[in-house]
Amino acid sequence: MNWKMLAAFMLVFLLFISQSKAWSGNVCTRKAAYWVARPYCIIRYWWGCSAWRNSWVLVYYTVQYCCPGWTHNGNNDCIIPICYPTCKNGGTCTGPNSCSCPDLYTGPTCETKISMNVKGLTVNTDNGAHCSYLYPCYPGDCVQPNNCTCFKGFGGTPSSGCKDIISNDEKPQLGKVTAILANLKKTTNERDDLQYVFVADATNDKETQIVWSNQNQFNLLSVEFESMYMTPGGFPLQKPAYVYDYGIGIVKSSIHVILTKINQNDGPTRNVCLDRTYNCSGFSYLTPIFDTTAKCYIKDDQFSPLIANGDWLTITFQAENGGFRTRVNTDNGTYLPRDMVIGMTDSKRVEFKFDFEAATHCSEKIGTCQEKPLAIAEDISKKPIEISWGGWSDDLAGMWQYYLEIFKLSPDLYGRLVEMEPLKPVYTEFINESDPHYATFTPKEPGMYSVLLEARDMANNSKITRRLCLYDNVSTVEIDTTEMHSMYIATAAGESGFMWQGSSDVITVVWSGHFFNRIHNENKLLSQVLSYPVQFADVEDNGILSSRKYVYSRLDDEEGSRSINEITNLNGIVRFEVNEDFADSATLPIANWKDVSPFAENYTFQAKLFSGRKMKVWVRAYDIMGNNAFDFTELNIDRTPPSVGIPEIQRNYQNGAYKYCSRFTFSASDDESGVHTIEYKLIMKDTGEVKYTGKTIVNFSTDLSMCQTETECTCKDKICFKINQVLDINNCWFLTHTDRMKSAAIIVQVFVYNQAWIASSFSWEVTKLYTLDGLTEMSGPKKIMVSSKQTNGVRLNWELPDSCYGETDLLIEIIETGAKYRVTKEVNFVDVLGLDEGKTYTARICMLYQNDDLGHCVSFTFATAEKDDSDHSAPVKFVVTGVIGRYKEIHRCDW
Ligand SMILES: *[C@@H]1O[C@H](CO)[C@@H](O)[C@H](O)[C@H]1NC(C)=O
Ligand SMILES: *[C@@H]1O[C@H](CO)[C@@H](O)[C@H](O)[C@H]1NC(C)=O
Ligand SMILES: *[C@@H]1O[C@H](CO)[C@@H](O)[C@H](O)[C@H]1NC(C)=O
Ligand SMILES: *[C@@H]1O[C@H](CO)[C@@H](O)[C@H](O)[C@H]1NC(C)=O
Ligand SMILES: *[C@@H]1O[C@H](CO)[C@@H](O)[C@H](O)[C@H]1NC(C)=O
Ligand SMILES: *[C@@H]1O[C@H](CO)[C@@H](O)[C@H](O)[C@H]1NC(C)=O
Ligand SMILES: *[C@@H]1O[C@H](CO)[C@@H](O)[C@H](O)[C@H]1NC(C)=O
Ligand SMILES: *[C@@H]1O[C@H](CO)[C@@H](O)[C@H](O)[C@H]1NC(C)=O
Repeated sequence: MNWKMLAAFMLVFLLFISQSKAWSGNVCTRKAAYWVARPYCIIRYWWGCSAWRNSWVLVYYTVQYCCPGWTHNGNNDCIIPICYPTCKNGGTCTGPNSCSCPDLYTGPTCETKISMNVKGLTVNTDNGAHCSYLYPCYPGDCVQPNNCTCFKGFGGTPSSGCKDIISNDEKPQLGKVTAILANLKKTTNERDDLQYVFVADATNDKETQIVWSNQNQFNLLSVEFESMYMTPGGFPLQKPAYVYDYGIGIVKSSIHVILTKINQNDGPTRNVCLDRTYNCSGFSYLTPIFDTTAKCYIKDDQFSPLIANGDWLTITFQAENGGFRTRVNTDNGTYLPRDMVIGMTDSKRVEFKFDFEAATHCSEKIGTCQEKPLAIAEDISKKPIEISWGGWSDDLAGMWQYYLEIFKLSPDLYGRLVEMEPLKPVYTEFINESDPHYATFTPKEPGMYSVLLEARDMANNSKITRRLCLYDNVSTVEIDTTEMHSMYIATAAGESGFMWQGSSDVITVVWSGHFFNRIHNENKLLSQVLSYPVQFADVEDNGILSSRKYVYSRLDDEEGSRSINEITNLNGIVRFEVNEDFADSATLPIANWKDVSPFAENYTFQAKLFSGRKMKVWVRAYDIMGNNAFDFTELNIDRTPPSVGIPEIQRNYQNGAYKYCSRFTFSASDDESGVHTIEYKLIMKDTGEVKYTGKTIVNFSTDLSMCQTETECTCKDKICFKINQVLDINNCWFLTHTDRMKSAAIIVQVFVYNQAWIASSFSWEVTKLYTLDGLTEMSGPKKIMVSSKQTNGVRLNWELPDSCYGETDLLIEIIETGAKYRVTKEVNFVDVLGLDEGKTYTARICMLYQNDDLGHCVSFTFATAEKDDSDHSAPVKFVVTGVIGRYKEIHRCDW
């Protein structure tokens, strides 16, 4: 028994399953089965299955039942025999198809009357029932005189004598109904050659199975089904004498394929453009197949119709049962022509529908459209991301579902945000068209998230839209307290720490990098967002439609607060406000905040400034989440210069800061800000050339007791600024070209700055420079000598005079070779190398003061050693001393 037969019995036996009473009597067992759903792949691409559906398979089990010929009265006791046809003329059924006849009747169903005659018992051939080859009643039960009751499910026209199958319960059964539409690469037969395949299985479906396809290239149609007809239970196998033969089963089956297209004139009827019937062979009215399956399998590998959007490919599987009946002319024993038994047909249907067009959003059409293709309730949010959408429709297939993917964006090398792993969403969800178009997602951590909504129609054509969301429930605006990122008044005097401003009414406050949102800045959460990287383009290029994954350009996020565009920010800050006040207390002002526009980390404004006032400048920074932080910096105002007393000048002061020294003593003080710096310059009177500049920070003390006791300080902000100033000038700074020593005049200018960098100044004109200590004796190096001699060089030694001239560098030039050596004032020798043996050379030694040639040179002549004459006993280790600067040393040293 194959499974199909079991399937047919199943319905009958399921009725018995519920009965719990134990079976007895003539009990038989057999297998029964029930259907279970098994998923099968309806759409498979070469990379795997992409959609599943259920097909139905049978699961078997064993049941008990009354053996054929027996039945029970509801108590599961199989002791009631069945006689069919029934026992006639008052006979009783004593066993399966076995009648016990009353007197005068005989025959299998007691239909024959026994007539008595004198000779004893004879059989009367006059049948009680009058059914005959002329009035057939098969399959049926004929009762006297001519009353035919057809077997259940059989009948037909009155003259057909019960031969035809007329009940819907006796329809053929269709099983394993499948249609496969495939695209195969026909090069070889390997598995890889499958591009895609769509499968429809209608095995257990009364309705038409619809499979939507978004592919249009096919080259194989494979259709298959099985049909079966079982002889019904209790069928009268005992044929009356006038029926010679009777056979029923499956007589016909066919598969009908139609391809229809949308009516171009918008009419309701579809245009048929392909209509093909595949007839299955192996059976006919005269050779019906019964009690086993009639298989039908058709493989058409030339099936490659041109398929357009909106086409339907409808496949109908049809089977018909029926058969024949042969009667005998009982009068003369000849066969009558066969009667054709007309049966029932049954069919199942699958439909492949084609749709290549993606869903559209109402905003893409003309007309008004309220709904958003995808919307995020707050696209800059501290709360979970709330997503909703609407307005999607699809003309042909209709909407199927929405596929939601959420990605965490990260910055690329250029700091632009993108889906770095475009196939690894952090969250996914499928939402059916019939379900509420709403989703919510709570990210694990703050960041920029992109939400992709793929609107899919029934054929799985899709369109992707994208919205962005900045989620952050933790970050704050922080303040960088390092000096590099401090907040200060740039217009104030930098020399005194930007605390004091003097000259101008324009104030610029700068706070580069002072305020920041660490999370936004480090993760570039406010940067530009790049397009979603297109995926699977190669798959589409290889012929599989609709496989490219990309965000539809008109449906990318160009709206709301967080779109694809960068949000202008500095270190994660998007807005600054400034305020200023002159209050003593450090409480945040409430009113009069001004936006910093244009947006920058600095702000310039005008204010009326009066000496002695103290101003606070406040800055408040906001990030995009609305978090803020504030800070202030103070500015003191001093618009007047310090007061400086008449200086006392001591030319050639002994025991000063320098060996040859002149000294200024003067008083300097400032009532507002305090004296900060003394700067001085030595300027040639005639040319204006600055010979020397220097500065010194004025002494102060933070020892508060000094402010009470010392009369020598001006006390400001708990700092004691000393009043009496001493400034030592080094006489050597006056060194000048020899020719001008007598005539030159040099002006010493002294500037006394307060903290606001406003200066008072005085000057002193110095002439007769040669009368200054250290400059009186104009002399170059003395006692020049050769301290060591080699065949290729010498070491020259000298002594410097005890004067400013001893404080100068020397430039030594060897006239013959042109080699130049610069020797710093700390060194008193030079090794001259690269000379020839036994030769005489002249060195010119000049004095340099800060690269100025003082015009003071001496010459010195020396000779190198003869070959044998060199100083072997005490070899000189030549040290190459300073050289160089802008003089080029010419070395000939190749030892
Ligand atoms: C629908 O298409 C997507 C790709 O766009 C694919 O991943 C998915 O498996 C398809 N689903 C079905 C049911 O075909
Ligand atoms: C034929 O038999 C059926 C059932 O046995 C009965 O109902 C019916 O009356 C009979 N008809 C005639 C004409 O005897
Ligand atoms: C199949 O049978 C039908 C009728 O029985 C006939 O019209 C049709 O031509 C047959 N088709 C083929 C392909 O033989
Ligand atoms: C048998 O009877 C039928 C009808 O009466 C007749 O047509 C047929 O020819 C007969 N056959 C023979 C062999 O007599
Ligand atoms: C969508 O609908 C199908 C069929 O109606 C159902 O099986 C599936 O569970 C639904 N999916 C969701 C996410 O609700
Ligand atoms: C922020 O949200 C995360 C989940 O994203 C949660 O675990 C955390 O407790 C929240 N923190 C605060 C301060 O609300
Ligand atoms: C102020 O900020 C702008 C823009 O960042 C910059 O160009 C300008 O140099 C800044 N000005 C000062 C004084 O720092
Ligand atoms: C500062 O004080 C020190 C010692 O207290 C003194 O040697 C120095 O000369 C003073 N400097 C000035 C510029 O007065």
